[in-house]
Amino acid sequence: MRPYEALAEVYDRWTAGNDYAGWAAHLRGAFAELEPEARLLDVCCGTGKLTALLEGQGFRVTGVDASQAMLKEAAAALPPGTPLHRVGLGTAGPAEELASRVGPAAHDAAVCTFDSVNYFLGEGLLRLFEQVAGALRPGGLFVFDVNTRRKLEDVFGDSHYGDDLGDFAYVWRNRYDPAARTVRFLITLFTRDGAQYRKGEEEHLQQWYTHEEITSAARKAGFTVESVTDDYTNRPATPDTLRETWTLRRAGGG
Ligand SMILES: C[S@@+](CC[C@H](N)C(=O)[O-])C[C@H]1O[C@@H](n2cnc3c(N)ncnc32)[C@H](O)[C@@H]1O
Repeated sequence: MRPYEALAEVYDRWTAGNDYAGWAAHLRGAFAELEPEARLLDVCCGTGKLTALLEGQGFRVTGVDASQAMLKEAAAALPPGTPLHRVGLGTAGPAEELASRVGPAAHDAAVCTFDSVNYFLGEGLLRLFEQVAGALRPGGLFVFDVNTRRKLEDVFGDSHYGDDLGDFAYVWRNRYDPAARTVRFLITLFTRDGAQYRKGEEEHLQQWYTHEEITSAARKAGFTVESVTDDYTNRPATPDTLRETWTLRRAGGG
């Protein structure tokens, strides 16, 4: 099954421990220069948990994601009228594809949260940055988080984990490939369906990047790097950081 198709149904319960409110508070600070009703793009919005919090701050938010199932959950959870688009990003298609769907240079800022950037492998990272740049106005901000090498090697590594949460249970098996710098996640889900459990399987692949690679892709796409901090704080990232928060600014805009 494609990534985030089986997982969509249980995603919000699986991520119940994520600090979305803390992330939104950090973003509020990062976007302090924006007008109250500025237009934001939630790139890889998933089920829209952060989208909803950003909307709650007064921003007008558009969500984009590749997964039909995740977007279905987002549409059910978000206020009617929230624009949601199914777009597969980072592919070899034209860089303008995202902009043509959501409006070229139409957004004041973009976000991409909870490890989504790690799904863009190799040249996919540059293509993602180019696509996001095309949807931002000159001077617009792009804040994203990214799992570090330390997280992929030391936390995910070759580990196994799982839990039984009553109406669903999961088994997560990880395979680290040092040459490719990727972790392959083999995920098995059992979701209660009446008196029985339905089994679903997904495979995800995440890659880590060096600072130089992210900076180089950002520059090629027309961004400057404003900051790299530790996990939605204002503390600079360190070699021990597991999740970094990057703030980029699209060139231009005086
Ligand atoms: C870990 S979830 C994060 C969702 C949301 N941002 C959050 O914070 O909960 C990763 C999301 O990235 C989306 N995604 C992964 N690769 C993608 C791609 N190439 N294009 C668009 N969306 C993608 C998945 O469908 C999924 O919804």
